[in-house]
Order: sequence, then C-alpha cells, then structure tokens
Amino acid sequence: MSADLLIVANRLPVDRVTERDGSRGWRRSPGGLVTALEPVLRANDGTWVGWPGLAEDGDDEAYEPFEDDGMKLVPIKLDASEVEEFYEGFSNGTVWPIYHDLVAKPEFHREWWDAYVRVNRRFAERAAELAAENATVWVHDYQLQLVPQMLRELRPDLLIGFYLHIPFPPAELFLQLPWRRQLLEGLLGADLVGFQLPGGAANFVRLVRQRVGHKTHKDLVYLPDGRTVKAAAFPISIDAAGFEELAAGDGVAARVKQLREALGNPRRIFLGVDRLDYTKGIYARLRAFSELLEDGRLDVEDAVFVQVAVPSRERVEQYRILRDDIERLVGRVNGDHGRIGRPAISYLHNSVPREEMAALYRAADVMVVTPYRDGMNLVAKEYVACRLDDDGALVLSEFAGAADELRQAWLINPYDINGMKSALVEAAEADPKDLSRRMRAMRKTVRQHDVRAWADAFLAELSSIAGSSHDKQVR
Ligand code: ADP
Ligand code: F6P
Repeated sequence: MSADLLIVANRLPVDRVTERDGSRGWRRSPGGLVTALEPVLRANDGTWVGWPGLAEDGDDEAYEPFEDDGMKLVPIKLDASEVEEFYEGFSNGTVWPIYHDLVAKPEFHREWWDAYVRVNRRFAERAAELAAENATVWVHDYQLQLVPQMLRELRPDLLIGFYLHIPFPPAELFLQLPWRRQLLEGLLGADLVGFQLPGGAANFVRLVRQRVGHKTHKDLVYLPDGRTVKAAAFPISIDAAGFEELAAGDGVAARVKQLREALGNPRRIFLGVDRLDYTKGIYARLRAFSELLEDGRLDVEDAVFVQVAVPSRERVEQYRILRDDIERLVGRVNGDHGRIGRPAISYLHNSVPREEMAALYRAADVMVVTPYRDGMNLVAKEYVACRLDDDGALVLSEFAGAADELRQAWLINPYDINGMKSALVEAAEADPKDLSRRMRAMRKTVRQHDVRAWADAFLAELSSIAGSSHDKQVR
C-alpha cells in the first residue's frame, strides 16, 4: 500500500469491539475528530492510520490494513501498558488537563512520557512505510505531537501538516510540562501547524521564540536548517449539508414526535450532548437547571432536561469520579422534582446513532453547551445545522472555540451559575422572531464554513508551502 494522502490520528474512525455473542466487529468511535475527518477522508480518497481503541489482544488479523465502508484504514497496535501510560496517562492525564486550562489536575510521570515517545515513534514509522514519495501526511491532535519531527527525520520528502483539535494553552500553563521543549520541537517537524483559534497559533509561535530560540515573524517560524514552519488558525467544522439532509429525513420527523410524546409533551426540552468529560461542564449545567426548578422559575410539568453522555476514557479516575457525581446529581434532582412518568432530567449514558442524534437536535428547544474549555465543540454546530425551521435556542459557553463564530447564541460563562440560569430562562422564553433571526445567522455561518472548507483551506495552505521556492530548495 502506498498513499498520496495519509491521515494519522490516535484513533481510527471505528473501534474494534466484542459483540454480545463474543464475535468481533467494528463500531464508530467517539469524538469530534472522527465526526470532522470522516467526510474529509472520503472526499480525498486518503488512508487513515490509527489505534482501533482496545489493548492488543493477540488477534493479529485485526491489525491488517482493511477497508470499512469505503475507507482505507491501517490499525496500530497498543499493548495494555501503552494504553495505560500513553493514552490514559500522558495524553489524557497530563496533556489534556494542561491544554484545557487545568480544569483537572495534571499528573507528571516519567514512564508516561517514555510511553508517549515510544508510541509516537510507532505511528511515525508506520506512516513512513505507507506514504508514497512526496505524499502529504496530515497528523492530528495532542496524542501525536512528536510524530511530525520523527516522520521528517525518516522521510524528508514528505509534506507534513499537523492539526491540533484541542486548545493550545498560554505559556503559563504549557511551561509546567517537563518535556515542553521536546513537544515544541516535535510540532516543528511539520510544514504547517494548524490550531482552532488564532490565540492558539500565537501562543505556539511565542513559545517557540522564547523557549526554543528560533526567529519568528508573525505566523512564521524560521528554523536554522532553512525550513519555514507556518502556524495558523483553521477553525474546524462539520459536514453541514450532511446533517441538514439527515435532519430532513422522514424518519427523523416521526422520531421527533415520538420523543416529545415520550417525554410527556413538555413545553420546553433542554438538551445536552457530550462525551462524559470534565471539561464539558455537564455537572454545572444540570445544577443550574435543578436550581431553576427549586426557585420555581421552571416547572417540571413543562420543562425537561435531556442529557446524553457518551462514555469516555472510563478507566481514568477523574472520569469515573465525574460519572458518579453526575449520576448522583441526576438521581437527587429526579427524586426531588420528578413525578411519575415525568423525570426532571432524562439521562442516557450511551452512544446514540446519528439519526437519533439529529432527532434529538430537532426536538430540543434549547441546546445547552457549557464547556469550561473546548477546542471547538462540534455539537453546537450540529444543533445549528439541524434547525431546518430556523428556530431553537443555543446557550453556548464563551470558552468553546465555537463561540468565536456563533455570536448569536446566548453566550455564557460556565463558572457563573446565576448567569447560566438567567440565560437558560431567557433562551427558553425568547420571542420566536428573535430566535429566528439568531438561528438564521448561525446557520449561514455553519453552512459557509463547513468541514470541506476547513480541510480545503488547510490542505491548500500546505500545498502552497510545497510550491514555495524556498521549500523546494530544502526538499
Ligand atoms: P469532543 O471532540 O471533545 O468529543 P465535540 O463536540 O467537538 O467534542 O464532538 C463530539 C462529537 O461526538 C459530535 O460529533 C457528537 O455528535 C458526537 N457525540 C457526542 N455525544 C454523543 C453520543 N452520546 N452518541 C453519539 N455521538 C455523540
Ligand atoms: O479532539 C478531542 C478528542 O480527544 C479527539 O482527539 C478524540 O478523537 C476525541 O476527542 C475522543 O477522545 P478519545 O479518543 O480519547 O475517546
């Protein structure tokens, strides 16, 4: 196999799972990266290298390159200790909290770092084997920040792009990392480093200047070997037309009716949809809702909160604690405020199919997206894309990347519970004309800046680097 476009991400778009009858199968994997990249891979006929989401199980066949639903996929093996140290450890116990404003406390362990280096090297070596001459390799996200440099050493002919799906933190936070210089140098192996927001790109360039000592000018870094690295913002998006089409399906309209009936035909449905992650502010939003019931500003007879939480990183302690906290809160709120057949909060700890997700988006009067910090938050954009009648209200944290584009949402500070409560009530009671004005503007934004535009912009910028005379010299 020899690929002209290689996508390298920690996870494949499908996870290897064991079915109830013991047989092995594949299931769509969680998270925004997969939602965004799947249509890009299909449109560009690329090959995707990634981990199939389970610890090595001796089933060697599962690691052969294969095709799933028209996508060319190449699995990478991780053993149980690598899952623990590279994935749960360094990626999600060290980098994730630091890059998300220290919402949880990061841990620093030298053996986690060693595993991170080892696994990054494995990804780089596999990519080096698979890429055709002068191919484009697009590396994704915080789990693989060393891959660009490792890959460049192995294959200087390649055009290498890197995209970070999560925020890139300011120096005060980044500098806590004992391996900060190695991470910066790892990223500098790319020709183009993409971030969600201009602030992330600026943080990166400043750190490279101050800590690695390279010359920089605006969004460019000049390396001693003559190479130039560009750092720029490319806000990610969704397949807006695909979501619109899904939402317009007959099955979805019928399901919306069923859902409303099953919930007792309340006047207002509030909805939260997230991976069960402490950055998402799920606990705070449910508390805000429960206080509104306590205060009598909302009544369980006409308002319900549907929270769908997809299981995530379940073996990491902070995720376990979060799950227990949320489930305790849901139990208490339902015990205090629910009636028979009318829960205050309808809570699902499950992944739901895309059609059902579209039906939930269409059924919800108020979409509640309240992360403490989020690279983009595609759920907010999916909700907007599915509001075919230009109705519905979006309550959105100002700390989600999406808040930069979706300015017509009710923007809130998730640390301010009273502010969040007021926004929930205002959004639920908004005048239909106001709702329509806001939603029309947001839909236009999401349609114009869809995932295809995002990928095209990134790949065009990357090829323009290949075309620059300076880089031709180096190659
Ligand atoms: P993150 O990448 O941090 O998970 P995003 O909001 O950017 O956050 O992306 C989440 C993606 O996962 C969205 O495409 C959303 O539709 C999907 N998703 C979230 N919750 C569920 C769920 N319970 N079942 C299925 N898909 C989900
Ligand atoms: O960008 C956020 C992200 O971490 C992606 O890298 C990842 O695919 C997704 O969320 C889900 O997380 P995980 O792969 O740890 O289940």
